[in-house]
Amino acid sequence: MIIKANAKINLTLDITGVRADGFHTLRSVMAPISLSDELILEKNDKLEFRCNLSQLETEDNLCIRAAKSFFNEINTDESVSITLNKKIPFPAGLGGGSADAAAVLRGLNQLYNNPLSKEKLFSLAETLGSDVPLCLLGKTALCEGRGEVLTELSGVEALPIVIAIGEARLSTPEVYKKYDSFGLAPANDTDKFLKALAIKDKDAIISSCGNAFETVTDILAPETKDLRKAMLDLGALNSHLSGSGPSVYGIFADKESAEKAAQKLIQMGYSAYNCEIIE
Ligand code: C5P
Repeated sequence: MIIKANAKINLTLDITGVRADGFHTLRSVMAPISLSDELILEKNDKLEFRCNLSQLETEDNLCIRAAKSFFNEINTDESVSITLNKKIPFPAGLGGGSADAAAVLRGLNQLYNNPLSKEKLFSLAETLGSDVPLCLLGKTALCEGRGEVLTELSGVEALPIVIAIGEARLSTPEVYKKYDSFGLAPANDTDKFLKALAIKDKDAIISSCGNAFETVTDILAPETKDLRKAMLDLGALNSHLSGSGPSVYGIFADKESAEKAAQKLIQMGYSAYNCEIIE
């Protein structure tokens, strides 16, 4: 079985608090995008995992953890061979690992004729990471709690997106820690976004995108700030960090201008990808 694992972007990301277990509560509109990894799942007598990038072939890869949690749940000796063709940049804030984990859960459930209910799959997804439930849903949603409380949103169009990433790398826990040290009041891009979506105001939807982590990442990785500016200079209608970075997305009016912008960003030395929001 061949299965796609779509990356996500955070159209908004507001941090609303810190829980007793150290995880943060957030309100974020996350959208799956057409940039994807590809996985091949084949029934096998033992769990095998291969990847086109050997540094990802480790026991703690989320693909292996997802497969183990699935087989543990259905209580069988059978297993699977997983081949991952990694195309989503990482670590980037694009949920690449989460997308792979969600694809393994979804794919295995299909391969074994749906032994697990939707609810069970979502509860397994939650144990694997904060973004795995959204990746399992595969649709634009308001994500609350630590990211696992999902409300599906309709009306976000298949907007043309450019994803770009430079040399800087960021650690997610470090970005959260630094954000806490700033003691900022929660931003409310998400409320603005939801209001704009409710009245189908496309310009307001696009202009209300934002990411609270930019206050931190502009300092930890100034390159991400430069990249947002470059996106706007190249005609993006808006541009923000995705997740805890360091990838940046630009929203464009049409495919042609998005393609030109991606070419230009590549000439400037960034990695850049054209894709679109999955409605
Ligand atoms: O859940 P996930 O494995 O993606 O989280 C990675 C790290 O990001 C956590 O260990 C935590 O430091 C931080 N995190 C958080 N609050 C969230 C999601 C992630 O503090 N809601």
